[in-house]
Formats: sequence, C-alpha cells, structure tokens
Amino acid sequence: MRKVRKAVIPVAGFGTRFLPATKSTPKEMMPLIDKPIIHYIVEEAVKSGIETVIFITGRHKRAIEDYFDYYPELEQILEKGGKEKEIEKLREISNMAEFVYIRQKEQLGLGHAVLTAERVVGDEPFAVLLGDEIIKNETNPGIKQLIDVYYKFGKSVIGTMEVSKEDVSKYGIVDGKEVVDGIKLVDKLIEKPSVEEAPSTTAIIGRYVLTPDVFEALKNTPIGKGGEIQLTDGLSILRQKEVIYAKDIEGLRHDTGNKIGYLEAIMDFALEREDVKNEFIKIMMQKCREIEQS
Ligand code: UTP
Repeated sequence: MRKVRKAVIPVAGFGTRFLPATKSTPKEMMPLIDKPIIHYIVEEAVKSGIETVIFITGRHKRAIEDYFDYYPELEQILEKGGKEKEIEKLREISNMAEFVYIRQKEQLGLGHAVLTAERVVGDEPFAVLLGDEIIKNETNPGIKQLIDVYYKFGKSVIGTMEVSKEDVSKYGIVDGKEVVDGIKLVDKLIEKPSVEEAPSTTAIIGRYVLTPDVFEALKNTPIGKGGEIQLTDGLSILRQKEVIYAKDIEGLRHDTGNKIGYLEAIMDFALEREDVKNEFIKIMMQKCREIEQS
C-alpha cells in the first residue's frame, strides 16, 4: 500500500470569528504561549510520518510562509550575541518538512481548498489537517491514528468525536456501523445538520486521510451550506464510489478557531509549561477568588 507522505493543511479561510485580529494576522499564527497554533499542527503531521506539508493559503496569510522559512537577518543578530542554540532552534522549524504553498485564489470553501492541492498531491493517499484544530496526544498523534486505519483498509478515513445533540449543527456529522473497536464504516455524511436532521452525534473533526479519488468527487460537488463547496459533501459523493471509514480520535481536541476554544487551549498549554505554570496558577487562583467575592 502507498505510504501517506503528504499532508494538506488548508489555512486560506478569513477567520471572521476572530476579527479584527484576523484583519492582518492569520488565526493560525496566534500563539499558544510562545508557539503559533500552526506549529503544533505541523509537529503532529511530522510526528506521524508526513514529509511534505502543502499549505492551501491566501494572500492574507503570508506570515505562515515566513514562519516556516529561514530568517537570516535575525540569525545574524543572534549570532553576534552568541546565541547559536536559538539559531538552531529556529532553523529546526524550517527543516521539519518540505513546505509547499498553493494559493486558493478565491475562498470557495474547505472542499474547494482541498481540491486546489490536486496536482501537488498527485495519485497518492494524503492527510488533511485543519489549521485551527489542535489534537493533543503525546504518544499517538491524531493524524497518525487515521493513517494507521488507512494502512489497514486502504480507504479514506475521517477523524471523529462524539458531541452533544445541541452541538451537531456546528459540525459535519457521520453515521455508520462499527466494524472494529471505534472504527465505523460510514453510510451517511451531512454538513451542519439541524438537531432533527442529524443521523447521529458523531462529528467530523479536522483530520482526514483521503484517497486521491476524492478530487474527482470534489469536482462534482455542488455549492452547499454557507454558499461554500463543502468537504463533507465531497466525501458524500466519494462514498457512492468507494467505502469510507470513520475513527474516533483519541486525544484532547482544541478548536482554536473560536474565542472560547482558543482561551481554553491557552490555559491548557500554560498549565503544562514548567516555565509559566506556577505563576499562571497563582494568577488564576487570585482571579477566581476575586470573582467569588464580587
Ligand atoms: P472555517 O469554517 O473555520 O472558516 O474553515 P474560517 O474562514 O477559517 O473561519 P471563520 O469561520 O470565518 O471564523 C475551516 C478550515 O478551512 C479553511 C480554513 O482556513 C480553516 O482551516 N478554509 C476554509 C480554506 O482554506 N479555504 C476556504 O475557502 C474556506
């Protein structure tokens, strides 16, 4: 079976939920302590065996390209200060993978963003990781879990998690029969259904391993919810041709594309960082006391 070597990371969305910040800063570049969100996502891909990262980007997202490039002017200054270790650390970021950037000229939706990668992906299976969702699992990275399922069945695999009934309308929802522990054979996919329409509470989260047949399906995908070409709709078309699996991803997921999700992620990461943890807990406890007293 062909190796999953390439990952597509769509980052071309406007991030309207984070305006005005996203007027000039990509939401993927917002930091969790001192590392931008996108760094964690690329790390997950690389730890899962990905060699080439294909960003689907836009003209408002140049900061991402700069982040994964060398920065000679800064290196010169660091060198003068004898900070060789820092230079090495910065270079490691650029050397994590081979980076390819494709401009999505019009933001026509996630399905369209993935289709933009067709020529660079070619005729091989590939991973998709959304640029604003973090999955924390130190021992078994989120996308690696799906790649392993791909190696078992040789078909597309969607990453999922269970959500509450009230939340189904925020996600693509899948339904299917469980074939092995935590792995379902998908028989229905629907983008952002109402509570009544939803066939289950199994939500698609931002991780996929797809066969290249998805490109043909996406070419035939009509405009869907929100006036966008939806990846969920494309997968629904692909399913008519070949089977698709869904796997519940093990790990803690942070949706950093919305304000509360982002705040939660900052808290979670701060509580794990030895250099800020104790001070941060002190501040939080103080704040909690103040809230209680008010
Ligand atoms: P979102 O639905 O989160 O949209 O896209 P968005 O524009 O990023 O953010 P909001 O909703 O306006 O706040 C899901 C993912 O698909 C990418 C986004 O960058 C994000 O990673 N995307 C979406 C594209 O790459 N292109 C598109 O045309 C749409």
